[in-house]
Amino acid sequence: MSRVVLVGAGPGDPDLLTVKTLRLLQTASVVLHDSLVSDEILALAHPRARLIDVGKRCFRHSATQAEICALLIREARATAGIVLRLKGGDPMIFGRATEEMAALEDAGIEYEIIPGITAALAAAATLQRSLTQRMVSRAVHFVAGHTAEGDIPAHDFAGLAQRGGTLALYMGAQTLGGFAAHLLEAGLDPATPALAIENVSRPDERVLAASIGTLPARLRAEAGEGPVLILIGEAMAGRVPVRLPLAACV
Ligand SMILES: C[S@@+](CC[C@H](N)C(=O)[O-])C[C@H]1O[C@@H](n2cnc3c(N)ncnc32)[C@H](O)[C@@H]1O
Repeated sequence: MSRVVLVGAGPGDPDLLTVKTLRLLQTASVVLHDSLVSDEILALAHPRARLIDVGKRCFRHSATQAEICALLIREARATAGIVLRLKGGDPMIFGRATEEMAALEDAGIEYEIIPGITAALAAAATLQRSLTQRMVSRAVHFVAGHTAEGDIPAHDFAGLAQRGGTLALYMGAQTLGGFAAHLLEAGLDPATPALAIENVSRPDERVLAASIGTLPARLRAEAGEGPVLILIGEAMAGRVPVRLPLAACV
């Protein structure tokens, strides 16, 4: 019987993998990975491991999750060693882990979960901004920028706008214009600081610092191809640090 592990690969920098994930990666026979898992991390897999890209670019959108679940079960039944299901960030944050856990349970296959660093926490470290701050931000909301159909989800925008705290918006680059409009209609001050961080923790990481009133237009004009995390809230105020390559600091 194989050992199935759903693992968070973090935001991209291999140094942000957990020790446990690194050990599993170096010994797994099969690695089913998302498109968000960086090449540097995949290079750490055992040389004889079979790497299977189940990223959304490889499948039709509607069939993706069902096909991934079926493949995971097939591999679990056919493999003697470790089957690693490697996901970007943390598997339990917008990672479709629920569907995969249910499929494994229905198939009678046991599994473990290993957490990873989610994009919002990696972004906070990059920006040197605490997502919570005494008197300024007493809550953090992890929010999705779109539904499976591509629409803006029916969030409680009044609650998000008025309760304060920091919003960490995932998958929100395409819908930010509409998302921001909902927040502003619900009473959020357009001057509220808002930052977009692309490719967090990777060599091509970029930060756009603006306000919620101006970020949508800037992002439309300046966004690249990489994943983008958006942080909104008073705790994001202040100068964005210039990040020195580690080599320049030693
Ligand atoms: C399907 S969600 C997966 C989130 C992932 N499970 C996590 O915990 O970070 C994909 C979204 O996560 C965010 N994301 C993931 N990795 C990122 C990175 N390295 N830089 C910026 N945003 C990232 C983006 O908002 C992207 O659209």
